[in-house]
Amino acid sequence: MSSQDIPEENLPHEQAAAHGAAGGGTAVTPHGAGSADPFADPGLPAHKPRIQDIDEAAAKRSERTVAFLFTLSMLATVGFIACYVIFPIDKIVYIFPFGHVSALNFSLGLTLGIALFCIGAGAVHWARTLMSDAEVADDRHPIEASPEVKAQVMADWRAGNEESGFGRRKLIRNTMFGAMALVPLSGVVLLRDLGPLPEKKLRSTLWAKGKQLINMNTNEPLRPEDITVGSLVFASPEGLDPHAHDWQIQMGKAALMLVRIKPEDIKDKRELDWSHDGIVAFSKVCTHVGCPISLYEQQTHHVLCPCHQSTFDLSDGARVIFGPAGHPLPQLKIGVNAEGNLEALGDFEEPVGAAFWERG
Ligand code: FES
Repeated sequence: MSSQDIPEENLPHEQAAAHGAAGGGTAVTPHGAGSADPFADPGLPAHKPRIQDIDEAAAKRSERTVAFLFTLSMLATVGFIACYVIFPIDKIVYIFPFGHVSALNFSLGLTLGIALFCIGAGAVHWARTLMSDAEVADDRHPIEASPEVKAQVMADWRAGNEESGFGRRKLIRNTMFGAMALVPLSGVVLLRDLGPLPEKKLRSTLWAKGKQLINMNTNEPLRPEDITVGSLVFASPEGLDPHAHDWQIQMGKAALMLVRIKPEDIKDKRELDWSHDGIVAFSKVCTHVGCPISLYEQQTHHVLCPCHQSTFDLSDGARVIFGPAGHPLPQLKIGVNAEGNLEALGDFEEPVGAAFWERG
């Protein structure tokens, strides 16, 4: 389609004039010269005052509604915290139409939902009924603000503050601050779900004085003659219940490996004192990041962690001779009881496992 095909009244003024001249028709009169502008800005519709603009009682009602919503939000947040404390995690309740649900999850979701909704609803109601609803159109200006513009912004800010009643309607303002200040408390309370503090649990294992060493393969108490030179034997503490809920954790911390080394080959005096007839017991948990160690080189008495190749010398206090591990493997002091079985003479004297547990 060319400009020839467009009705003259729909063309811009210059083209219409040219078109009219070229075609011998009547040129459209330029804007402001008597004809209607086909692209004229219709402007904003006339402002219609709301009931709150003309009736102070209605404005007061709206103010109370907004304050009620913000107050309800505060109560819901307090309810959220209360539900978190009151309901046990395994309590199930029937709630129509949802059926059987977790009382804790349902109450937390409900109260937090109410708290957030009421803040939003209060803010919207405030804006729609009490703040100024006069629409304003303004031309786009250069980005940098001149001092006059800044002064105008401040004047507008003050006017907005006055029109919204933010400074004047202290009840709304204060309840809104209260609601918004309390809502983040919900997130703080949820931090408790990160789990209980470890306290001293990482520093101790199930080993204790008199606990027999149980062969992990046979589940029988270990005797010194079961451990021959060159062999690597794994042991767990007597009384470890495989059905206990924390069995894996306890097993992971207490896992022990035993080797027999000729006493004259043991270089570390404490290691020799804590051994029984050349049998030495060390934690099986690597001190780098906790992998189980299981590769033993009987000629050198080195054990190798398969994860990152940390290597420990079991004839020299399990000293680290290679790799990223930062500490020697903790040694367990052992002896023999009246029945001739190997037993622990106490717990490890330092935390087992990864170095980030830091030794105190
Ligand atoms: S976990 Fe053993 S070397 Fe990394």
